[in-house]
Amino acid sequence: MAEYKIRDYRDSDYEVVRELFSHGMSEYVPSVCIHILKQPWVLFVLTCTFLILLCSAKSFILPIMAVTLLLALGRQILGYCWSMYIDHCLNEDLRDIQKTYMEAQGCHFWVADAEDSIVGTVAVKPSDENPEELILKRMSVRKDFRGLGIGKALSREVISFARRGRYKAVILNTLMVQVEAKNMYESVGFKKYLEYVMPTIYGKLINFTISKYRYDILPGS
Ligand SMILES: CC(C)(COP(=O)(O)OP(=O)(O)OC[C@H]1O[C@@H](n2cnc3c(N)ncnc32)[C@H](O)[C@@H]1OP(=O)(O)O)[C@@H](O)C(=O)NCCC(=O)NCCS
Repeated sequence: MAEYKIRDYRDSDYEVVRELFSHGMSEYVPSVCIHILKQPWVLFVLTCTFLILLCSAKSFILPIMAVTLLLALGRQILGYCWSMYIDHCLNEDLRDIQKTYMEAQGCHFWVADAEDSIVGTVAVKPSDENPEELILKRMSVRKDFRGLGIGKALSREVISFARRGRYKAVILNTLMVQVEAKNMYESVGFKKYLEYVMPTIYGKLINFTISKYRYDILPGS
């Protein structure tokens, strides 16, 4: 088993941390595509397009080409929107990690270090809604180091930090496609307390579901 240690973020980690976050998030494009393809209205549009073209052209070539084109276009649009979201994060809290997480009260950033390279990240900051709660962010483990307990260890580091700071809970958000992350948080003791579809037109259209988890820090624990 690979040896790893969890340590505080340093300025020299900057590029690798941002790269790890981008890769971790990009991985979800295929599963989001499948999630969208499973929506009844998407299946309906694709089936109707196929059948209408089949009846009018009396050949399979045109409907197959049209559906393939629609799928390819959808994949491109999703990839573009997803990369815009990643860029947004990179230009938000991940733009100046030192200032955002290492110099601000209640915030922190850790990395998991193995074989002299960074293989995992996690961050924490006080929640905007309730400053007595911390929000866990930027959890990511490099693909070839997954399943070794690094995600759990990073989560526990955040919980210990919250306990030392006398915060009441650690909360976090996951998306409908982040199955490994949900399992991992649940195995650490996080409980799902809210699930909702993003209240925007696009969110409703693609049933973009967010699950909120929390870990309550019991007094004296
Ligand atoms: C989620 C993530 C951080 C987990 O990291 P990890 O180091 O592999 O996690 P761990 O080794 O500590 O895994 C512990 C638990 O996760 C779950 N898990 C891990 N891999 C899994 C998989 N492929 N399928 C299902 N559950 C899985 C299991 O419950 C496991 O518990 P167990 O060992 O008791 O069975 C990692 O998959 C990742 O970086 N994903 C991409 C980025 C991401 O989704 N971040 C979360 C944002 S909220």
